[in-house]
Amino acid sequence: METVWSFLASVPVWLYIILAIAIIIALRDVLQRKHTIQHNFPLVGHFRYMIETIGPELRQYIVANNREELPFNRRQRSWIYASSKKENNYQGFGTDQNIQEAGYVFIKPAMLPYRVDSTHSHHVKNGNDPHHYTIPSAKVIGAYHGRKRPYRPRSVVNVSAMSYGSLSARAIESLNKGSFKFGNYHNTGEGGLSPYHKYGADVVFNMGTSYFGVRDDEGNFVMEKLVKLMQNNPTVRMIELKLSQGAKPGKGGVLPASKITAEIAEIRGVPIGKDVVSPPYHSAFSDVRGMVDFIEQMAAATGLPVGIKSAVGKTEMWEELADLMVETGKGPDFITIDGGEGGTGAAPPSFADHVSLPLVFAFSTVYKIFQKHNLNDKITFIASGKLGLPAQAVMAFAMGADVINVAREAMLSIGCIQAQSCHTNRCPTGIATNNKWLESGIDPALKSERFNNYMKTLAKEIIEITHAAGYEHPCQFGMADIDISMGDNNRTITLADNYGYLKTVVPFSDIKALLECDHLGGRDIPGEKVA
Ligand SMILES: Cc1cc2nc3c(=O)[nH]c(=O)nc-3n(C[C@H](O)[C@H](O)[C@H](O)COP(=O)(O)O)c2cc1C
Repeated sequence: METVWSFLASVPVWLYIILAIAIIIALRDVLQRKHTIQHNFPLVGHFRYMIETIGPELRQYIVANNREELPFNRRQRSWIYASSKKENNYQGFGTDQNIQEAGYVFIKPAMLPYRVDSTHSHHVKNGNDPHHYTIPSAKVIGAYHGRKRPYRPRSVVNVSAMSYGSLSARAIESLNKGSFKFGNYHNTGEGGLSPYHKYGADVVFNMGTSYFGVRDDEGNFVMEKLVKLMQNNPTVRMIELKLSQGAKPGKGGVLPASKITAEIAEIRGVPIGKDVVSPPYHSAFSDVRGMVDFIEQMAAATGLPVGIKSAVGKTEMWEELADLMVETGKGPDFITIDGGEGGTGAAPPSFADHVSLPLVFAFSTVYKIFQKHNLNDKITFIASGKLGLPAQAVMAFAMGADVINVAREAMLSIGCIQAQSCHTNRCPTGIATNNKWLESGIDPALKSERFNNYMKTLAKEIIEITHAAGYEHPCQFGMADIDISMGDNNRTITLADNYGYLKTVVPFSDIKALLECDHLGGRDIPGEKVA
């Protein structure tokens, strides 16, 4: 007996405390009825939930192979991380892909590449030229409809819509400062124009069904507020009317009262303490003709180019829009097509997985409709859906995209680890959260430079592939420049044969002429010190 007592007395107090806590937890597990696993396996049942929580990270770092994961596999993420840190982003020993498999895509190089003149800003020797990485859009947006402030984006790659609210203030600030340095535009997302979008970069004002920032108390659009906002913020260069996005077309949303801080209420123009419901449809118009009128009214009142952003499925209304544009000579200056593979802050899985076409089908469907109506030289086509990698971007240009937008790739460049917890407010990297502690880990000075580096590398590799194919500008790519493997004894077909159209030729003389354009966006000296 004495040995038992002396043994018990020798056990440290902290072990008793741990034991007591374990007993309390085990008792609680047995008595509760909410979680069967914890009830049936008291204490150890908790490990299942813990491991489930860190499952994505475990698979990402330990289990999955380089090309296995979605949306972005390790190879793709590593390329973005290395590019943003100016580290070695090359690959040794050759491709690790099975390039004979069906559906594999090949970009065709010319026998002799495009010869870059030594005075050309893209010449390898001119690394210090301020335009060394600049690939301006070959089209001027809004020129055809005679808008007062037409716009030629300085970069063919830009930041896609992501709101302040779905991303943290520091993440938005990093992207805006980085965009200013590189010269691309920064799309606000539908959460309104925040102070964090105002560090100098060109801005595209994205407007969804809630008209955040330009609405009355009932959520109706107010033109005077839009005009005032645009007048007070000349960095806004275009308005994007969001009809839908690839990850959740036709799905409204709720901004819970708990998320509405005084600052968010001010930016979005919503009351504090009440849930705000975003309907799936617009209240400012109810049919395609009404939408065209609405676009024209906004363009006339603000002088800015106005476009639409949409996912794609049924084609009747796209046909109607094209008919109307021919009939009236009016309509959107640009059309942003978002693929079903696109990202979101939060969406029901069935929507994200199944509703709307992937980008290649979505884009080709709409492009062909407008081509049939001879409208493609009058519209700028913008594409998004995992295009922030050089070969994917080139494929989009070959299919007819004039400009591309990138969202999640931009997030990756500033430190996103694809934890896929944007919808929980617990993003571990502080990017897709409003948790002040998590956000405090972001240093906008560093992250803006990372984003700038990523954009430079992406532009550099796009232009290198362009040169390899014998062209000066990606707008010169066509549907015959890319082959798709049929997986059968090296049999391939071109994009043209597969999708049934040839790209409408984009008028282009040289990059120098684009850089000298009066409507060119961004600053004259990219990289100028950010305030
Ligand atoms: C966190 C997050 C928030 C987004 N918010 C918006 C939004 O407010 N409005 C919108 O039109 N699209 C929004 N999107 C969609 C993106 O703008 C983009 O169209 C889509 O993610 C495809 O681009 P990606 O594949 O490069 O990410 C959001 C995407 C993400 C990841």
